[in-house]
Amino acid sequence: MIDPADLESRLRTRLLGRPLRYYASVPSTQDLARAEAEAGAAEGLAVVAGEQTAGRGRGGRSWWSPPAGGLYLSLLFRPNLSPERVSWLTMGVALGAAEGIEAACGLRVDLKWPNDLEWQGRKLAGILAEAAFQDGRMAYAVVGLGLNVNTDFGEQPLLRPIAVSLAEILGRPVDVADLLLAILERIEAHYLALRRGDSPTAAWAARLVTLGRPVAAHLPDGRQLSGLATRVLEDGALCIRLGNGTEEVVRAVDVSVRHGR
Ligand code: BTN
Repeated sequence: MIDPADLESRLRTRLLGRPLRYYASVPSTQDLARAEAEAGAAEGLAVVAGEQTAGRGRGGRSWWSPPAGGLYLSLLFRPNLSPERVSWLTMGVALGAAEGIEAACGLRVDLKWPNDLEWQGRKLAGILAEAAFQDGRMAYAVVGLGLNVNTDFGEQPLLRPIAVSLAEILGRPVDVADLLLAILERIEAHYLALRRGDSPTAAWAARLVTLGRPVAAHLPDGRQLSGLATRVLEDGALCIRLGNGTEEVVRAVDVSVRHGR
């Protein structure tokens, strides 16, 4: 359980989590943060919940959000960035989450294109970015992070083979508040850098487990591509070298990495 007053007293960020809204149970932190954004809230707002009853994932999927299991966090950003730079935010949040986990738990985790955190091929966290644009610039972006902290997948036959929690990896429960504080600090460092114009792409690409591996991509037009993930572009797009030697560039589709070479 998170004690919001204790959390706020230990917050060492200057932007993120100011303010921090904590709810025991909400439909989706993402929807609350977006509503506050539409009402003019300043960037830095963090919405955290102990449970989500209608957690949302990418591609219209739902995000299973049981109580006392996961970290459910949505952050409001208002960077002066062009629309194609939304991916910089997901990169910054992914890097910050991975570094926060390392700082708080001493565990190194992988990033998987486009914006998952993984451990030994099983999903540890997912990121959902939703942005609004005005006059060709980003009016705001709400970036949601769902992280399996103490989540028990024992009764979840569909999720169990593909998902993992920090508690399962470490063999002990993890303090969600300590972890959240570390993650907010690291995300803030990346956010302040990218807001100054420093690209996070190289640091993010360096941690991507996807590169150099065979991947399969399911494109929105129904095509399926198989090939080798070779590199990422500045906007986060993934380059896949096909069997005939040509290169395809894919953006924000689901790519499954085949583990083992
Ligand atoms: C994914 O599909 O991998 C992204 C999952 C994002 C889940 C988080 S949990 C906090 C925030 N609120 C939501 O409803 N979704 C995001």
